[in-house]
Amino acid sequence: MTETIGFVGLGKLGRPIAGNLLQAGYPLRVHNRTASKAEELVTRGAQLASTPADAVTSGGIVISLLWDDASVESIMTDDFLSRLGRGGVHVSMSTLSPEASRRIATLHAKHGSLFVEAPVFGRPEAAVARKLFIVYAGLPAAKERVKPLFEAMGAQKSFDFGEAIGAATTVKLVGNMLIISAAASLTETLTLARNSGVDPHAVVDMLTTTLLSAPIYQTYGRMIADGTADLASSPIPTKDLGLFKETARALSSPAPISTFLLDLRSKPGSDRNVDPVSPMPSAP
Ligand SMILES: NC(=O)c1ccc[n+]([C@@H]2O[C@H](COP(=O)([O-])OP(=O)(O)OC[C@H]3O[C@@H](n4cnc5c(N)ncnc54)[C@H](OP(=O)(O)O)[C@@H]3O)[C@@H](O)[C@H]2O)c1
Repeated sequence: MTETIGFVGLGKLGRPIAGNLLQAGYPLRVHNRTASKAEELVTRGAQLASTPADAVTSGGIVISLLWDDASVESIMTDDFLSRLGRGGVHVSMSTLSPEASRRIATLHAKHGSLFVEAPVFGRPEAAVARKLFIVYAGLPAAKERVKPLFEAMGAQKSFDFGEAIGAATTVKLVGNMLIISAAASLTETLTLARNSGVDPHAVVDMLTTTLLSAPIYQTYGRMIADGTADLASSPIPTKDLGLFKETARALSSPAPISTFLLDLRSKPGSDRNVDPVSPMPSAP
């Protein structure tokens, strides 16, 4: 376990995942656009890389966990690709569009390096608790090499979606669409319960121990009933619903619900429809 791993992107999710790798004994070379976010990891023994390419070791493994298509594509410089070189593997863990993931894979193929897409299900707290789920796709040789890292990063389970790049990113978008719709439905229904004088916590307890016993209903149900859900203020649902809708459009696949949820988020005051249980809006 002496191979140094490059890690680019130390945001809310990147920091705990990189921290888990360090804790598991992997030497890390880390880079973040805002260097101060690397300080804690450097104190714990990570080396600081001054650029994304500087985090790359020839023929090694580099992980990226940046925000979106544009930010990941912006680090795909000639310097990054040629340093990674033949046999090197880039593991992209961001939630991207399948199209961008395929473009990035093509760039790697041109440089003789390998690409694995491996988006993550789980919030930063789940990374700390090592309860993440990772879905991944790529060529077998690349996957074999990086698979041991998933558990070290904090995955409780990882799922192989084959060789075709775009498959795992699609699964991630499908999953997030379902989670975001569940949260929106929970908000609307628990608001009705509370406005009817029924305790939303009791509703969540009843439903999540019977017909809806799923982690998403349990976790978001509790947070929504408590008024601590943060999906309305998070930029993630808007980004990922947009990616879902764009992916559906490219495939001429129907997307009325994602379109509706996206419209709802773009309207002022729409947060009552997607987050904390709020009082009944006054009649127009
Ligand atoms: N947070 C979650 O609960 C969660 C769960 C599952 C999946 N994800 C996915 O994981 C990815 C990271 O999410 P996050 O919550 O960690 O986001 P975040 O806290 O906002 O961090 C985003 C990272 O991207 C970097 N970045 C953004 N734009 C950049 C640019 N143009 N050039 C270079 N670097 C750039 C940021 O650098 P700076 O620090 O300099 O801004 C930071 O390292 C996203 O794709 C997200 O959808 C997040």
